[in-house]
Amino acid sequence: MSKTLHIKTFGCQMNVYDSKKIEDMLGALGYTSTPELTADVVLLNTCHIREKAEDKLFSDLGRFHLLKKERQNNGQDMVIVVAGCSAQALGAHILKRAPYVDMVVGPQTYYHLPQMLAMLQRRKDEQVEGENKPFKGVLETGFPKISKFDQLPQTSLTGPVSAFLSIQEGCDKFCTYCVVPYTRGAEYSRDVESIIQEARILLEKGVKEITLLGQNVNAYHGKNANGHVVGLSFLLQRLAELPDLKRLRYTTSHPRDMTDDLIQAHGQIDILMPFLHLPVQSGSDKILAHMNRQHTTEFYLEKINALKNARPEIAFSSDFIVGYPGETQEDFQKTCDLVEKVQFAQAYSFMYSPRPGTPAAIQDQIPGEVKAERLQILQALLRQHQLAFNRSMEGKVLPILLEKKGQRPGQILGRSPFMQSVYLSQGALGQEINVQITSGFLNSLKGEVVDHV
Ligand code: SAH
Ligand code: SF4
Ligand code: F3S
Repeated sequence: MSKTLHIKTFGCQMNVYDSKKIEDMLGALGYTSTPELTADVVLLNTCHIREKAEDKLFSDLGRFHLLKKERQNNGQDMVIVVAGCSAQALGAHILKRAPYVDMVVGPQTYYHLPQMLAMLQRRKDEQVEGENKPFKGVLETGFPKISKFDQLPQTSLTGPVSAFLSIQEGCDKFCTYCVVPYTRGAEYSRDVESIIQEARILLEKGVKEITLLGQNVNAYHGKNANGHVVGLSFLLQRLAELPDLKRLRYTTSHPRDMTDDLIQAHGQIDILMPFLHLPVQSGSDKILAHMNRQHTTEFYLEKINALKNARPEIAFSSDFIVGYPGETQEDFQKTCDLVEKVQFAQAYSFMYSPRPGTPAAIQDQIPGEVKAERLQILQALLRQHQLAFNRSMEGKVLPILLEKKGQRPGQILGRSPFMQSVYLSQGALGQEINVQITSGFLNSLKGEVVDHV
């Protein structure tokens, strides 16, 4: 009998990738995915990056608890699984605070889910048999020696037009504000051949665009077929040789790992899209040093210039943190100055959120109102540049890849090489069509189809 599975995904693209793998893995055991909130298994794939993300987990869990009780009143069960980075960081604490949670599994061990579900069933059966044992949730948050990638399913039933492919995980950088090195563990790169193999399977399913993922994707150093360690530029060259692949991207990069060969690859590989997410976090060298970012603003600007030399049309996006401990008004102004210099096409910005266990959390904190005010100022500036960038497309003809159905009937969402959204009403998914841009808005472009490529 088919069972149902509902997955809710928070956080970054790596979680989106993991959720898809979980869906494929449990799909093979007979679980069908459902958008319904009540299901045989409900899995929350969590993010721990800021405090808000953690609060959201517990408020969501409260709601799922009610749904679980409702189902139990009807004689059915609902297994609640907490996976992802909060699962890794909080572990047994989740089972204590929310005892109705059945399983907690970290990002490196979720390939154990089938065995964990079987173990859970055994524990529940024992309870029914009246042994009066208190129920104990199943917990799995180790960092195993073997790579999870060797354990995950390779096949997938459906391919979207644009797919993620994780090639690197974990982080050894230890920025002082960040939980990722603790939740995802040490840096690990997959072998070139296993990545090529996964890319081939995606392409067979109709995928046209692949985004390579890693917390520090440009620190990639995997083994090639001869056992030699190679960098990201080598891998990009190999992937670009695959027939039918139309677009290639990678995210998230660290400025430190933006090596010359990788910068040159942007000039050499046509299908490598001219849009790069390169987080800088702050424009103040003092704050960058305190954050342990291991780069200065000058170093960052040099990388930006070198990339522009290699690929003149390249556009950038970034991440910013405002209100890091010790950030003065002057430091903040330097961030705004850097933003003015680079003119980012798009960006994410956040108020610093102290995370337990990270070094910056125990330093003197900036008041919430100051952080909020700085964020508002920065976001207004970033929005201005984003709008200007989108408007600069007016009159140009851009190739638009038709990625997925829009919300309205007959509407298709396409993307420009710079990740801008364009809504169209003709063409088929997976097609690339030339569109003459007539207007640029803050979050999308509008245009008329010129021809089919
Ligand atoms: N590996 C990537 C992304 C890490 S998390 C990188 O190095 O850039 C994504 C973004 O969340 C970070 O770039 C940072 O801007 C933000 N972030 C991380 N920890 C944070 C914290 N404690 N408070 C606020 N923002 C944070
Ligand atoms: Fe976090 Fe820094 Fe690692 Fe990025 S590089 S994941 S911000 S510790
Ligand atoms: Fe969040 Fe973990 Fe990604 S903390 S941002 S889901 S690596």
